[in-house]
Amino acid sequence: MKVGFVQFNPVFGDKDKNLATVEKLLSEVDADLIVLPELFNTGYTFLNKAELTDLSEPANGETFDFMLALARESNCAFAYGFAEKENDLLYDSVVLVSSDGLIAVYRKIHLFFEEKKFFQPGDTGFHVFEYKNVKLGMLICFDWIYPEAMRTLAVKGAQIILHPANLVTPYCPDAMITRAIENRVFIIMADRCGEEKRNGKTNKFIGQSEVVSPHGEILVRARQQECIKIVDIDPGLALDKKFNQYNDLLIDRREDLYFK
Ligand code: ACM
Repeated sequence: MKVGFVQFNPVFGDKDKNLATVEKLLSEVDADLIVLPELFNTGYTFLNKAELTDLSEPANGETFDFMLALARESNCAFAYGFAEKENDLLYDSVVLVSSDGLIAVYRKIHLFFEEKKFFQPGDTGFHVFEYKNVKLGMLICFDWIYPEAMRTLAVKGAQIILHPANLVTPYCPDAMITRAIENRVFIIMADRCGEEKRNGKTNKFIGQSEVVSPHGEILVRARQQECIKIVDIDPGLALDKKFNQYNDLLIDRREDLYFK
């Protein structure tokens, strides 16, 4: 399975430009599954809820139509982060879409810093979805710091974790090596790059998007530049949870003793 990520520097508030950038980066792409950053169409540094309300859209909105058309043209599935509006509630969400249409929506559960002022914590739970006979799970950015999140997806059978991000602290890319090893899963982490300055607020994003194997190998890692990277993986590797002949990573868990 050919999988990968798009890393770029979205322009705040300019959806048309951001969609055009992604379309250009994806032109002539040959892949089965590509992950885009968190909030890829809007940018990240919202100053107030009115601004977020204006830029948010339903899961089946204009960005979905655009990504569905791209999925059909390229015969590739995409997981992309966007600001979701449902009724009056706003979520930091990811959509998984293939040429067949919408597969799933995941809403970020662990909100980071000022996201708590604007977004509703996600209510979709941690679920696994099938695409081309491979089980996929989704997380968004700061969800990574709660090991329970990825563990839940691994216990439910996820073979590949799709992880759109907007990272402003340095820890995640290396931490994902451990997450991949402890859960025996592939991880596709798609970060943005660049700097966003808005009314005295500055966010500097670290890039370093990556694909990590179930053995903790960094199959590909970006630096800080705009890029698209694709690698060929065997998702079947994530089905074998045996660490050695005595240890099975999931079966050996002592649920009877955790959180007691
Ligand atoms: C983050 O969760 N966007 C840091």
